[in-house]
This record gives sequence, C-alpha cells and structure tokens, in this order.
Amino acid sequence: MESKVISSGIRYSSLPASYVRPESERPRLSEVSACDDVPVIDLGSDDRAHVVQQIGDACTNYGFFQVINHGVSEEAVEKMSRVAGDFFRLPVEEKLKLYSDDPSKTMRLSTSFNINKEQVHNWRDYLRFHCYPLDKYVPEWPSNPPSFKEIVSNYCKEVRELGFRLEELISESLGLEKDYIKNVLDKQGQHMAVNYYPPCPEPELTYGLPGHTDPNALTILLQDLQVAGLQVLKDGKWVAVNPRPDAFVINVGDQLQALSNGRYKSVWHRAIVNADKARMSIASFLCPYDDAIISPAKPLTEDGSGAIYRDFTYAEYYSKFWSRNLDQEHCLELFKN
Ligand code: OGA
Ligand code: NI
Repeated sequence: MESKVISSGIRYSSLPASYVRPESERPRLSEVSACDDVPVIDLGSDDRAHVVQQIGDACTNYGFFQVINHGVSEEAVEKMSRVAGDFFRLPVEEKLKLYSDDPSKTMRLSTSFNINKEQVHNWRDYLRFHCYPLDKYVPEWPSNPPSFKEIVSNYCKEVRELGFRLEELISESLGLEKDYIKNVLDKQGQHMAVNYYPPCPEPELTYGLPGHTDPNALTILLQDLQVAGLQVLKDGKWVAVNPRPDAFVINVGDQLQALSNGRYKSVWHRAIVNADKARMSIASFLCPYDDAIISPAKPLTEDGSGAIYRDFTYAEYYSKFWSRNLDQEHCLELFKN
C-alpha cells in the first residue's frame, strides 16, 4: 500500500529510489566519531558569571551545548516522550487525517522536509505545530491520544521558561543587557516538531534530516535516549552527539547568528537513521514575533566590522526559508549586507 507517510508500520526491505542520495552527498557513517567534549552546562549552579562564560564559550566554539538541571520537570519530559510515541503508534489512517504538505499550516503531520521542493526525500515523518499562545493553538492540536493536549501544553510552558532563561544568559554572554534578546524577539512564537524516524533499510544512503541550520532563534531538543542520531558539524567534521539522560541539546538558530552579528554561529546539524530501531526526537523552537525586526545588536557592530546582515522581519525570513530546499545556499546568506 502506498502511503503519504513512512510511519505506516510497514518494514521496507530496500530503500525506495526517491530517498537515495547521490554518492557524494551520503552520510559516510563510518567516518563519524562521537563528540567527546560536548559542553554540558549546569543551570542549577549558583555561579551565574561562570554559567554565562560557559554559554559564551559554547556558542562561540560549538554553536550548541547541553543543559542539565534545566528546570523542566522529569515528569513533564517523561509524559511528553510517552505521548509523542503513542501518537506515532496510532493507526496510519488516523494519523493521515492530520497530513498536509503545506508549510503555512500551523498544525500538520508531514513527511521528509519540504516534499514539494526537494529532489531527494528524507526518512522522517513529523508532527509540527504552533504552541504560543496556547489558547489560540491548542484547539487545533491532535485530540488523539486524548491526553495529548494537556501533556504537551504543560511541556510547552516549562520549555518556554527554560528558553527565556537561556536567552538571558546568551544576552549577557554577548555583553548585552539581560533582556536584550527577549525584547528584540518580542512576543516570541514557539513551535514544536515531533520527529519520527522509522527503521531504515539502508541508513548509509539517506538522511532523516540532511545538514541544515534551524531558521528560528533557539532550539531546545529532547533526544531519544535509546537511539542516537543527531550529528553536528564541528571544525568541518560531522560528530555524533549521543543522548544524555536529563539533558536537552540547545542550538543557536539563524536569528541569533544575525542578532549577534555572526559572533555566534547557527550550528549545522543533521539526523541520521538507523536500520533496527525507530528513533524519535522532540524539538521546541523559539522564534521572533513575525513583525520583530532582526538586526545585528549595535554594540556588536562597533568593532569596525559593521553590521554583517541587513535588517529584516522574521516573517520575511521564514517565508524565504520555506520557499527553498535544505540543500541550497544558506538562507542567511541572502540577508547579508
Ligand atoms: C530539527 C532537527 C534533529 C534530530 O528538527 O530541526 O534538527 O535529532 N532535529 O531529530
Ligand atoms: Ni534542526
């Protein structure tokens, strides 16, 4: 049976041709080693100055880091993971009621990345939805599993608080006022993507998600504890970020790269797939308000470099991002001065 999604319960014995990457673009999994020095930042520490310094170092040298003692309760995390798994285990006909390939939809189940723009597909299904303001968006969320709305709403609230704390620390690490980033992003939006990567017959030939940077400001990623798959580009090499219990992976997105005038890099990352086991990841994205004007922070342009990027609204950036394919020139390049 042909299905619009790949989380149909069918095990494929070979990779369909539309997922096979040309030889030069394949993940070369045997050349990837584990990143053994992923920065781990303890947000429970009393030494704020030290935390700020660690965040600054991580954003400058890695573009990503992990946080522990992050204030999101174990219960919220555990319930979120469970309900996301329950969603993807629903019968495929039930899930397909939510299917759409239109990126402008604020709640949809979809597959790959941008199915209508891309040449080669990715071995991923995803449920993507807006989460802020909750009372506006919760009514359109899945009502099956029945506990989905309540559990996910609660998770979103806790993650949002974590995001705000991180934005304060990142602002300070750039030498800006604590509220600088929060103020620029304004009534910031929040989206989630629950990614589901079914077992893949030929993981060497394809991706769950090919190398990309996130178009938003900050990403808070909950990895599958059982199955690894996230890799980031560090000093020109892909390295695996293995899951660590109790931690979120945080990455700098394109908007923070622009706002920091290129000081902090939106990290290139990708998800690879696995022959034996399905993998799930739960990404929360904080994004500027649509009309927020993103521009390099003044104090960061005064060292003679000037503003690397022109001013733009997030709405302009986001529509440009989704009109393209992940393999093209980086979207932020189009906003350079
Ligand atoms: C994403 C993403 C990585 C992963 O959703 O943008 O990069 O590990 N996910 O699934
Ligand atoms: Ni990403």
